[in-house]
Amino acid sequence: MIDLRSDTATRPTEGMRAAIAAAAVGDEQRREDPSVNALQERAAELLGQEAALFLPTATLANQIALKLHSRPGDVLVAERHAHVVIYEYGGPAAHAGLMVEAITGRHGRFGVDALAAAVEPSTKSADQRASVLALENTHNSSGGRCWPLEEIEAVTAAAREWGLRAHLDGARLLNAAVATRTAPSAIGRHFDTVTLCLSKGLGCPLGALLAGSAETIERAWREKHLFGGAMRQAGIVAAAGVYALDHHVDRLSDDHARARRLAEGWHAAGLPVDLDQVETNFVQLGVGALGLGRDEALARLREAGVGLSSTIHPSVIRAVTHLDVDDDAIDRAIALAPEALGARVAV
Ligand SMILES: Cc1ncc(COP(=O)(O)O)c(C=O)c1O
Repeated sequence: MIDLRSDTATRPTEGMRAAIAAAAVGDEQRREDPSVNALQERAAELLGQEAALFLPTATLANQIALKLHSRPGDVLVAERHAHVVIYEYGGPAAHAGLMVEAITGRHGRFGVDALAAAVEPSTKSADQRASVLALENTHNSSGGRCWPLEEIEAVTAAAREWGLRAHLDGARLLNAAVATRTAPSAIGRHFDTVTLCLSKGLGCPLGALLAGSAETIERAWREKHLFGGAMRQAGIVAAAGVYALDHHVDRLSDDHARARRLAEGWHAAGLPVDLDQVETNFVQLGVGALGLGRDEALARLREAGVGLSSTIHPSVIRAVTHLDVDDDAIDRAIALAPEALGARVAV
C-alpha cells in the first residue's frame, strides 16, 4: 500500500539506525545522557528558547506546558479544532483543570479581535481568568496550514498584554518554517513554550521536545517525573533526533513539493482538491463532491492500494506526504486514486 495516511508512518532510515546504534548514553534522569543533553541544546537554539526538555510524545509536551502556564479553574484559549482541544482526550481538563474557550478559526488561525472576545471574563468574579493561549503551526485539522509570522506576532503580543502565557503546539513547526522560509527560532521566540515533534516529518521512531526559558524548563523537569515520563538511557532515541535535525529538516521541502504534485495531479484528473489549501505536506480531498461518504472513499482507495485517512470534517479525507513516500509512489497515487473514486474531468 502507498501509505499516505499520516507522516507518523515513517520508519527510521539506515542512516538513522546507524546513529541509534552508535549513540552515547547515560542516565537521563540524572541528566547524564550525552545524546539527550545534545538534543536538548540543539532544540533550544533551533526554537529560539533558552532550554529544552526531551519527552516521549508531543501530547506530553503540550500537556506539561499547559499545566505550567495555569492554575486549576483557569481558561485555555485555543482554536476549536486544535490538537490540544480535540485529540488529547480532555488532557487540559484532566491534568491542569483548565476550561477551554474555543475560537472558531479560519485555516486554524484567528486574529486579535477573536482573542479579545475570548479572554473577556465570563463572570464578575475577578479571579477567573484566561491564563494560556495555545496556537498550532502547522494546523493539522486545517490540512497543514501555516500561520504568517506577522499574525503570530500580533496575537502573541496581545495575549501578553492581557496577561496570558503563550504556548505553540509546533508538532510540525519545521514544516511551517520550511514552507514559509522563516527560521524556526523567529517563530518560536514569540512563545513562552514550544512543542516540537520528532516522529512526524522528521522521521524519528518517537520523541518530542518542549522548549522555553531556563526557569520554565526546570519546572517542566518536575512535571516530566510527575507524569512518569522521565526515562533512563533515552539517548538511544535522542540520537535519532540529533540525526533528524542534521539530515531531515531541509528535505521537508521535498515532502511539500510531492504534496503539491499530488494535489495538481488529482485536480487535473477531476478530483475535488482545493490547490490553495496545499501549503505543506497535506492534501485534502472533499469527497462529498463526488457523492461519496468518507468511509466509502477510504475503502475504495485502500482496495486500490492507496492509504488515505479521515479528518474531523465528515466529507473530507487527507493524504500526507513524508520521508517514506518517493516520487514513484506519488505517480502511482496520481494514477490510481481518480479511477478508484470515479472522478470525471470537467469538459
Ligand atoms: C498538531 C499536533 N500536536 C500534537 C500531536 C501529538 O503528537 P504525539 O502523537 O507525539 O503525542 C499531533 C499528532 O498528530 C499533532 O498533529
